[in-house]
Amino acid sequence: AEKEMAGKGVMLVTGGAGYVGSHTIIQLLNNNYSVVAIDNLINCYAEKNKKPESLRRVEEITNKKVIFYNVDIKDRAALEKVFKAHKFDCVIHFAALKAVGESVQIPLTYYQNNIAGSSTLFEVMRDNNVKNIVFSSSATVYGIPQFLPLTEEHPTGQGCTNPYGKTKYFVEEILKDVCTSDPEWKVILLRYFNPVGAHESGMIGEDPSGIPNNLMPYISQVAVGRREKLLIYGDDYDTPDGTGVRDYIHITDLAIGHVNALNKINESGFKGCRAYNLGTGKGYSVMDMVQAFSKVSGKDIKYEVVGRREGDVASSYADAQLARDELNWVATKGILDMCRDTWKWQVKNPKGFQGT
Ligand code: NAD
Ligand code: WQD
Repeated sequence: AEKEMAGKGVMLVTGGAGYVGSHTIIQLLNNNYSVVAIDNLINCYAEKNKKPESLRRVEEITNKKVIFYNVDIKDRAALEKVFKAHKFDCVIHFAALKAVGESVQIPLTYYQNNIAGSSTLFEVMRDNNVKNIVFSSSATVYGIPQFLPLTEEHPTGQGCTNPYGKTKYFVEEILKDVCTSDPEWKVILLRYFNPVGAHESGMIGEDPSGIPNNLMPYISQVAVGRREKLLIYGDDYDTPDGTGVRDYIHITDLAIGHVNALNKINESGFKGCRAYNLGTGKGYSVMDMVQAFSKVSGKDIKYEVVGRREGDVASSYADAQLARDELNWVATKGILDMCRDTWKWQVKNPKGFQGT
């Protein structure tokens, strides 16, 4: 175990078996960090008493090991054990529930998991003198855009219409307060725009359980014949073709952004809390994505335009300049790459991790 602890530093990755976590762990391992992942398996697949399938594949892709514990961030005693067993240099905190619609139905579960769970994690970090953290935030903290592109200065917390979005805003605020209270903390808030795509190998990808809430997995399941047609939520927005515009970012670009964030935290002189958008800065409509996916897959994507989905905004895309200037990070992949890699994952794993 000591040998595995060598390298650049030891990372605790919460929610490490999930979509963003698993792709980020690949980049961490490739950059010589060692990784301890925890996950309570609420939104990922694992065979009984085995490592989650996503992490087994991460090990195959990288030919490196990931230490895994089935731990819930709400379980203080279990967290304490993990912190006693390893000496962490930094925490990358992905663990959260993320379904917007579900968060409206069961808000208390979301507040307990995402806010109370995070706050327990931060207490255990403090008690073990681990005060470096990268937090998965979301462009959803900006609410209804007052201007575009969205800069990090855009007001947050106003117009977050659903409990999920509010949990991201509240946890950001908690971390800001923690930094104010103790100058030893170093915090980076990464505000993701719309992560899509899969690892270039097609071995890992997004594996939603049940009916996908998000556009790309839905399109992909229509293309592979698992769903009949895409429902397009409105074509009467004030956008070039009337359908919603978003800033889709390839999951590998997003994952690499976390490595850049770690470099930033390790820079001498970095202190306190900084927020960065991770997006491409370009907006694409639902129709753009349908066409791109159709082109790449060679499949006809059946769709039907229906009414708007509650809580949706017309357009959202990032000003990605701050991450470029301060993290030396820029997204390099375009929508055709995003569609190609989603499709590769989908074709290789038509039923996701469980079907294999
Ligand atoms: P995901 O559901 O694939 O991954 C989250 C992982 O956390 C899952 O494996 C789940 O089992 C685990 N988890 C949840 N609650 C836990 C708990 N209490 N204890 C331990 N593990 C727990 O989601 P993702 O897409 O990988 O998202 C990762 C993070 O990024 C989340 O915080 C999410 O809110 C944030 N985010 C995601 C998106 C997106 O569109 N995917 C956009 C912005 C922000
Ligand atoms: C994209 C576009 C839809 C599905 C959500 C969360 C956000 C963040 C990312 C975590 C919109 C349209 C979608 C469908 C459709 N997650 N659409 N038919 O809503 O931008 O963001 O995921 O932080 O917080 O809100 O992403 O993929 O759901 O939608 O027409 O079946 O596709 O209306 O214009 P969204 P999405």
